[in-house]
Amino acid sequence: MAFVEPGDPSELADTARTAFAEAYGGPPAVVARAPGRVNLIGEHTDYNRGLVLPVALPHATYAAMSPRPDDVVRIGSLEEAEPWTGTLGALGPGDVEGWAAYVAGVLWAMRDAGYDVPGVDILVHGTVPLGAGLSSSAALECSVALAACGVLGIDPDRATRHELVTACIRAESEVAGAPTGGMDQTVSMLASAGAALLIDFEGLVETADVALGLERADLALLVTDTRVSHALVDGGYAARRADCEAAAATLGVPSLRQATLEDVEGLQDERIRRRARHIVTEIARVRDTVDALETRDWTAIGRAFRDSHVSMRDDFEISCPELDVAVTTAVEAGAVGARMTGGGFGGSSIALVPTDRLDAAVRAIDAAFVAAGFGAPQHLRAEPAAAASLLSSG
Ligand code: GLA
Repeated sequence: MAFVEPGDPSELADTARTAFAEAYGGPPAVVARAPGRVNLIGEHTDYNRGLVLPVALPHATYAAMSPRPDDVVRIGSLEEAEPWTGTLGALGPGDVEGWAAYVAGVLWAMRDAGYDVPGVDILVHGTVPLGAGLSSSAALECSVALAACGVLGIDPDRATRHELVTACIRAESEVAGAPTGGMDQTVSMLASAGAALLIDFEGLVETADVALGLERADLALLVTDTRVSHALVDGGYAARRADCEAAAATLGVPSLRQATLEDVEGLQDERIRRRARHIVTEIARVRDTVDALETRDWTAIGRAFRDSHVSMRDDFEISCPELDVAVTTAVEAGAVGARMTGGGFGGSSIALVPTDRLDAAVRAIDAAFVAAGFGAPQHLRAEPAAAASLLSSG
């Protein structure tokens, strides 16, 4: 079965080192690695101060970096054709466009937060599929932030990681122009291998590891990238966020976290009501899923996944025909549960599948895509991986 492989971390780091040396004429001072993520449940709840339950993927981005004696910043990637060159004074909002904005933005936000980041050369390389709703952008940001920490000789302890998360979120929203909610950067910086990360966005962001026990239950997480393009800088994501803010304002609460189902059912505007209903019911489904994981109640988890997908399809309207087919087919092929995952409007689905049905599920989804006249999807196995780490320094 052809899955998109995460690759061997030390080989990928070596590839980044070699490419760095070829591009800049010497070895990098540090290499850092940061994972992409797939969300088990809790979609669009982060910017509503709600709950989310993502896992870090073994697929990651590797950033090689060296300090320079001047204020020049050079950014290259093995996955992108165009390198970028600029200076420390021009890394912020409006200065950089395209993929390099995610990198420059991190340096800008770290400097703004008081980190004395010097001019640097950067080369990135990774295996997180781009534009698949698997947070290639957060992986890029977090790998760069951690590499910059390495260059500065700062120990990336928990408190530092929280600060770096904030810098990465600012890079994405203020420099790259994607007004996202913080789940992706938080899990990339704070996840533990083998576990999901429950993140509570109410007040000070709090996290807790949630054991999954998939292996013992002979279950696997199958991610299907529909390859329908997904871009968070497009209008759909921001429009959903604005609808949620409008709902909270109408209800007179600081965020939909404080609203009840009864509150939102009373909203007059039909679209705003459906959007708010998704958020309130989705936060409850995250709680239900965490409880069900504790008791290994896979049927309850399957139900939560199903209801989550229906809610995103009908109330939040962020699914698409390819995601609906991937989800329906996975369940027909024996998945315990399946749903679209991430920001929506394309991207990926996630299915909880008995390990012995994994191949059959993949084949069924591929066949269903052919039958529907869709382009071929690609599949990943999401074995919950560890947070970002510094692979070499000094
Ligand atoms: C994207 C954003 C996240 C989150 C999800 C939807 O991944 O970056 O902040 O809002 O969409 O759950």
